[in-house]
Amino acid sequence: TKGSHRHFMEKEIHEQPEVIAHALAHYIDFADNRADTVAGLDFARIPSLAISACGTAYFAGLIGKYWFERYARLPVEIDVASEFRYRDIPLSPQSAALFISQSGETADTLASLRYCKELGLKIGAVVNVGDSTIAREADAVFPILAGSEIGVASTKAFTCQLAVLASLAIGAAKARGTVSEDEGQALVRNLAEMPRIMGHVLNSIQSKIELLARDLSKCDHVLYLGRGTSFPLAMEGALKLKEISYIHAEGYAAGELKHGPIALIDQNMPVIVIAPHDRFFYKTLSNMEEVAARGGRIILITDEKGAAASNRDTMHTIVLPAVDEIIAPMIFSLPIQLLAYHTAILMGTDVDQPRNLAKSVTVE
Ligand code: M6R
Repeated sequence: TKGSHRHFMEKEIHEQPEVIAHALAHYIDFADNRADTVAGLDFARIPSLAISACGTAYFAGLIGKYWFERYARLPVEIDVASEFRYRDIPLSPQSAALFISQSGETADTLASLRYCKELGLKIGAVVNVGDSTIAREADAVFPILAGSEIGVASTKAFTCQLAVLASLAIGAAKARGTVSEDEGQALVRNLAEMPRIMGHVLNSIQSKIELLARDLSKCDHVLYLGRGTSFPLAMEGALKLKEISYIHAEGYAAGELKHGPIALIDQNMPVIVIAPHDRFFYKTLSNMEEVAARGGRIILITDEKGAAASNRDTMHTIVLPAVDEIIAPMIFSLPIQLLAYHTAILMGTDVDQPRNLAKSVTVE
């Protein structure tokens, strides 16, 4: 049931601290600060990893790619499942393939899995539904333990997918000897902090989000920008907004702004910039200044350090606690989900069951 919540989506957003804690406990030995999660896939030996998924699960996979490459030095090939097998990717049979799916029944993802199996790759599945077809056909199953997700717009499954991918990337990094013992432990400690920080963020940003949602609900187009792992998050933010509020939204790499989308900037199109104070912050800040100089309206989602370093008089800001880079995508997902949710409510759409969409897409 929805309990005291108006919609399943709202309930599922607020369940995140709890389900993430549950998922992490499965993958991480907190007493020992160890992530030994790699059973079933030999991350130490594979030359590369192929990832395939659809929609929100694909964006989780894109963020996973950043982590596997950065921490485990493992090259990742990734594509949406509906394109993956048509590209004739030269995959080595010594590689492994990872399929990410909440439902475990998505037709394109399943077809990609079978394609990789034919090629002789070892198959891993990051799924929520444990007895799904994708789980059954995989060699190694990594459950995300999000509990059932009813809202068509994926929220808690996304952040649980990220928590599992982060744990796998840390486990892979240790197996491959690409992080030191201390670095590995620090990453694990940061993951362990996440549920508490999520709880705090969910409680503290609500009124600000409701105010900004009023603004968004009057717009026809919204642009989301991000750099690094905030780039896939920008695309996820745009997907979330369009699927439940029916407002047109696009997610772009911040650096791509001047290669086209900047032509769209005017007072009528808000630009939501996702920019924690990370290695890329000042680059994104300069992209933001390009938007401001053209009269664009900016909503900056940043952390305390980022807020201090930017001119807050000229924009709306959502300020989150400063967190380590590895957990930023999960923490920054929260305002993005809530913004879409509250905007959709103001638009009067059917939030849990938006038009034309199904929870599980079983046709190609
Ligand atoms: O069940 P799956 O994770 O395989 O589903 C993939 C997509 O259909 C799904 O993430 C879709 O994009 C959601 N409605 C997004 O909120």
